[in-house]
Amino acid sequence: MKTRNVYLWMFVFSVVSFINCISSNGIIEGLINSFSSIAEDDECDQPDLCDEMQIMLHLACIRITSPERILLLLTWDSLPAACDKTASVLGHINDTLTDCTPPQTNNLYMRLYKALVFFQGQMCTMAETKSKHMEKYRSCISELRDDLIDCEGPADWFEKRSKTYVCRQFTEIINCDYIRAALLCGLKPARMLRSFAAEVINKALVSKCLVSSTLPHVHNPMSDVGSRVPNNVIVCIYIFLLACMLQYFM
Ligand SMILES: *[C@@H]1O[C@H](CO)[C@@H](O)[C@H](O)[C@H]1NC(C)=O
Repeated sequence: MKTRNVYLWMFVFSVVSFINCISSNGIIEGLINSFSSIAEDDECDQPDLCDEMQIMLHLACIRITSPERILLLLTWDSLPAACDKTASVLGHINDTLTDCTPPQTNNLYMRLYKALVFFQGQMCTMAETKSKHMEKYRSCISELRDDLIDCEGPADWFEKRSKTYVCRQFTEIINCDYIRAALLCGLKPARMLRSFAAEVINKALVSKCLVSSTLPHVHNPMSDVGSRVPNNVIVCIYIFLLACMLQYFM
């Protein structure tokens, strides 16, 4: 008797749960749908590609339209001001890049962005980088603005396919920067500027160029700004002696 009761109950239970399943199909469907939509949100929906125009516009705020233009930041009246502006532009670009898929690394604006991050790391942080030594010559380097603009390559040279062409322009630019800096500021700051220019510009190129160790010859370079002080002292002594002599003859 008892076992038969158990079987009966089991039968009733399975019928009830079967009916329950059919009638609650909607709920199950709903469950399946919500699971699949979670899956879609989490895995299948890639965030959109970042708008490269946004990056371009931020870079344009500090007039960075080519790799060489990054160097012009060195010629701002005040380096801290140039660094502040750079940090704010990089901050905006970092924000732009957070909720979307960044453009590929060979995208022009991403390359300019990387080169700018490098510039900031070298010139604007507390770290004692080798480019930081240029700070000593900044009052002279900041006079080089027009020269650096003269040295810029032809339009879009950095976007051309021929590596030979790109690297020829690259070498011409850094050598031109070197000569102009040597004439105005001296050979030592000129060497620093050339190698910094090479590093910054190379960061923005798809394929890096070799930096030739042969420096162009410069006629009558300016003596280094750093050594001007002793020169001034000598000039003062001359004037002093001259004054003494004049006094003696009068
Ligand atoms: C922006 O991001 C770069 C690299 O991820 C970082 O080096 C830089 O400090 C950031 N700058 C700002 C201002 O957030």
